[in-house]
Order: sequence, then C-alpha cells, then structure tokens
Amino acid sequence: MGSSPTITLHDKAFRPYLSAAELATAIDGVAARLNADYAGRRPLFVVVLTGGFMFAADLLKRFTGDCEIVFIRVASYEGTGSTGTVQEIMGLREDVQGRDLILVEDIVDTGTTLHHLLPTLRAKNPASIEIAALFFKPASLRHDLVLNYIAREIPNDFVVGYGLDYDGLGRNLPEVYVAA
Ligand code: XMP
Ligand code: MG
Repeated sequence: MGSSPTITLHDKAFRPYLSAAELATAIDGVAARLNADYAGRRPLFVVVLTGGFMFAADLLKRFTGDCEIVFIRVASYEGTGSTGTVQEIMGLREDVQGRDLILVEDIVDTGTTLHHLLPTLRAKNPASIEIAALFFKPASLRHDLVLNYIAREIPNDFVVGYGLDYDGLGRNLPEVYVAA
C-alpha cells in the first residue's frame, strides 16, 4: 500500500493498513446511505470521544442535511486489550427525547461499549438510535447489536491511526496502521 513506512509507537511496530484515500472511499459509502436515510429528519449525531473525532469530522462534512452534533465520552481503553470497563455517559446535556440519534464510533470490537451504552440512551426515549462506526471486527463481537452504518469491516487485529490510539499515540495519523 503506497510508500508509507512501518512506524513504531511506544515499543510496538505497525505497518500501513488503509490509506487516507481508502478511508475516504469507505466514509463516502456510509455518508451516502445516511444522506438517503435521514433526508428531512434532522438527526442528532452523538460522537463518542476520543477515538471517533476524526471519523466524525470527515463523515459529518459529507452529511448534506440539517443535523446537530454533540460529543460524549463513555469508555476507557488501554493497550491492545479491551478493559471491559464502561463509564457513565459524560457530556450529553441535550434532551434526546423523540430525536433520531446516530452514534458515531471509531470501532466496534467486542461490542461491550455499545452493549452498555445503548440501554442508557434508550432510557432517554429517543425516536431511534443507529450506530455509525468506522470499523467493525465481526470476529470479535460478543453481543447482539444492529450495525447499519459500518464504513469498513476488518479482521480481529489491533489498528491505530485516524483517531485510534495505542496507549495514547497514533490518533493524529491520517491513515490506519495495523500491528506488524
Ligand atoms: P468494544 O470491545 O467495547 O471496544 O466494542 C470498543 C472500544 O475499544 C477500543 N478498540 C480499539 N482501539 N485499536 C484501537 O486503537 C483497535 O484495534 C481497537 N479495538 C477496540 C476503541 O476505543 C473502541 O471504541
Ligand atoms: Mg472508542
């Protein structure tokens, strides 16, 4: 893939996995479907920080209808293993009752984060909740989730870049790398 070199973050080597152009194409696809499905509905995009920030920026630039955007924080993640720890929702001050929510996530891995987050959101009585995720690892999924807006399915490998980090590093990379 291109000429991007292998990189090192902390003690770990990563090799190029998806170029900025490949990411853009994948995001175009999700955006086109959201534009069709949400025409005239004014959804509320709920961006899950921190990992979702870069995907959200590029996805939302492609959303052509009226929408609102909020940012929440729910989970911590350390190293290359999911902690399974899900924190309370922070930052959701809007009244979401009757709204069409679109959760914007960096990646759905085991699904544990969403498995805990969705009931909390449903209790606030939105009209609908859909999930838009940059990546989905089908082989890792351990919960029953409906994922209608996935930009790209990936194997069960640890990826970094484009919002995703390895112990705090790599979020700023414009392309995605995989553990070498
Ligand atoms: P779960 O297992 O709850 O995981 O679906 C969701 C969160 O885990 C993080 N995660 C990753 N972060 N590279 C990362 O940088 C990965 O390959 C990866 N897999 C899971 C991420 O924070 C995600 O929101
Ligand atoms: Mg995350």
